Amino acid sequence: MKVKNICCIGAGYVGGPTMAVIAYKCPDIKVTVVDVNEARIKAWNDEDISNIPIYEPGLEDLVAEARGRNLFFSTDVEKAIDEAEMIFISVNTPTKTYGLGKGKAADLKYIELCARQIASVAKTDKIVVEKSTLPVRTAEAIKSILDNTGNGVKFEILSNPEFLAEGTAVQDLLNPDRVLIGGGTDEDGFAAINALVEVYANWVDREKILTTNVWSSELSKLTANAFLAQRVSSINAMSELCEKTGADVSEVARAIGMDSRIGSKFLKASVGFGGSCFQKDILNLVYIAKSYGLHEVADYWEQVVIMNDHQKRRFAVNIVKTLYNTVSGKKITFLGWAFKKDTNDTRESAAIYVADDLLNEQANIAVYDPKVSDQKILSDLNYLETRSEAENREGIEVNQDPYEVCKDAHAIAVLTEWDEFKGYDWQKIYDNMKKPAFVFDGRNILDGEELRRIGFVYKGIGR
Ligand code: NAD
Ligand code: UDX
Repeated sequence: MKVKNICCIGAGYVGGPTMAVIAYKCPDIKVTVVDVNEARIKAWNDEDISNIPIYEPGLEDLVAEARGRNLFFSTDVEKAIDEAEMIFISVNTPTKTYGLGKGKAADLKYIELCARQIASVAKTDKIVVEKSTLPVRTAEAIKSILDNTGNGVKFEILSNPEFLAEGTAVQDLLNPDRVLIGGGTDEDGFAAINALVEVYANWVDREKILTTNVWSSELSKLTANAFLAQRVSSINAMSELCEKTGADVSEVARAIGMDSRIGSKFLKASVGFGGSCFQKDILNLVYIAKSYGLHEVADYWEQVVIMNDHQKRRFAVNIVKTLYNTVSGKKITFLGWAFKKDTNDTRESAAIYVADDLLNEQANIAVYDPKVSDQKILSDLNYLETRSEAENREGIEVNQDPYEVCKDAHAIAVLTEWDEFKGYDWQKIYDNMKKPAFVFDGRNILDGEELRRIGFVYKGIGR
């Protein structure tokens, strides 16, 4: 079967870029991305391409080429489901904030809503693709809902987890290390798998398209994120030991990374990992392991998150201690708020937690991020519910000018590794700061020696 019409439910960080690439690479397939969030869809359809809701290098060009040709963004979910042969579910699956599994399990309410909507609308057979990251065995639940509430049409469920990283989404999608497709092991299952293989084969080498059973595919996604996050927590754990012993974590990372069994990627010590995936997916893994009675497995993986929380907290504590044990009334400038460079996404960004700790110490925080709006920064803090919205507004100031934001600060903290920070006139920044002028480089991106020469007290991570 050759797919001609695709629908994707969820126009977020995954649905948007993924479908833009499919549409760009497969001009014969009509791709409709739908969302209940009207503002988001409006932004995707904005005539001014720079207003699309997600910032990713290269994304604007793809959308500009495919939008209106074979790529469409709409709020008419039912029409898109009705017309499509293949439906991707790419909605959010956040950590549950209530009830059973609160704080760990994935909240599958949006997934279930999608399944019920697909079942009620579908009048022809459909292939339903899990693109969202889901707990292993979710396909079983989706299948049960579809078969029990549908109109007697046939549904095949595939798992096709997404491995893109934000900030490099377009490159990752155009040139993936692999594409993973899990499906049923009977004839209909194989036919559905093949239909999706044929879509990807338009631009991905067939050797890179892996097919597995559904459960392996679902679990591989959680496993990949757990392994990646584990590397960051491992190097961050070493960074603390480096600070005590005179070792330099960058040198240690380089030395171990040259061992081909270890590899050099994902060994950058930092203020802690953020993003919408790592913590959520590990906690979900922990919950799943516990629900099978595998307590040692659960504890092993939970430690990755515990270590990450420690790394964020100790960054804030270090600022307070270094500034003579008080930051009360002092201006501390944050360079960066996004959870990594080249994205406007701030979900679970370390900056939020470091700011929260410093506000508890009565610091005045000033923030500059090249892609994050002031409303977003404030709403990230309000979401924590540590203090009133008025108090957050009082304690935090956002400035669009990197030099203004550093003026009169006692300390600068680098929270995101935006390239532009490296090229600033640090002498000019130093001249306008309170003395002694401190820099806490949570990403180890600045030239510490040069900053010390200017007069800064410079502190990196793990050195
Ligand atoms: P997101 O919050 O950016 O987007 C999800 C969208 O789904 C939202 O716009 C929301 O309005 C919409 N939505 C929710 N329920 C809906 C419904 N019933 N009908 C229509 N629209 C609905 O989330 P995201 O970052 O794109 O993540 C989506 C999934 O992909 C998650 O499961 C996530 O774990 C996974 N994932 C994310 C990344 C990443 O880097 N962000 C990478 C790989 C996998
Ligand atoms: C991650 C996975 O990499 C991706 O495959 C998956 O699909 C979604 O989750 P993402 O969260 O977008 O992607 O970005 P990633 O590059 O993995 O970075 C996650 C966090 O770890 C960021 O805060 C980043 O700054 C931090 N990190 C990463 C480090 O602190 N050190 C490193 O060496 C690598």
